[in-house]
Amino acid sequence: MSEWTAETAEWYAAHYGEYATNRLAVDALELPNDAVIVDVGCGAGAALRHASQRVTTGALIGVDPVPRMVEIARERAGDHPAAARLDFRIGPAEKLPVEDSLADFVFAFDSFDHWQDKAAGLAEVGRILRPGGQLVVVKDGGVPGGAKAAKAFVAELAKAGFAVVRTESIAVEDVAFALWVCTAAE
Ligand SMILES: C[S@@+](CC[C@H](N)C(=O)[O-])C[C@H]1O[C@@H](n2cnc3c(N)ncnc32)[C@H](O)[C@@H]1O
Repeated sequence: MSEWTAETAEWYAAHYGEYATNRLAVDALELPNDAVIVDVGCGAGAALRHASQRVTTGALIGVDPVPRMVEIARERAGDHPAAARLDFRIGPAEKLPVEDSLADFVFAFDSFDHWQDKAAGLAEVGRILRPGGQLVVVKDGGVPGGAKAAKAFVAELAKAGFAVVRTESIAVEDVAFALWVCTAAE
């Protein structure tokens, strides 16, 4: 049973909906202007709204299993200049409401640790990524449990068929987070 409900969605969006990792992680990526991005566990949609400044012709799809969270993401996108390209859908990582081989990038910003079934979620990410597409995982504060846990996380990705091609610890302003970029292993 997930702890994410309409009430926690309201609370999260009010306190952390625009949390800086959304902006800083997007800034750390090279995003072509025609990229298709799917943000899994998109929360209030801040990462996609920020990405829209550089992804000016591509598609920006946010997915979250909590209907109230999706409603909030839609509300915040309402009067945004990229509103017509911001598409928020209800669904969990384990059953993504997204077509096969559509995404150039799948974001999991502070959401991976909330997925109920990580193997099923990663299989879904593999299904929706186009060949050569990238999964970008962000964990605020790094990996709880330090180096050992980070190694276990990379092994979990490898088991699901993903190879890590970039790992970075980013500390900017008053925020520190870890970022992994992964592709489907050959
Ligand atoms: C800590 S919030 C992060 C939200 C946003 N990515 C951000 O960084 O602001 C975690 C998000 O994961 C979502 N979530 C919970 N269970 C999930 C699941 N099984 N699949 C995908 N997302 C899930 C929650 O609804 C919530 O929006």
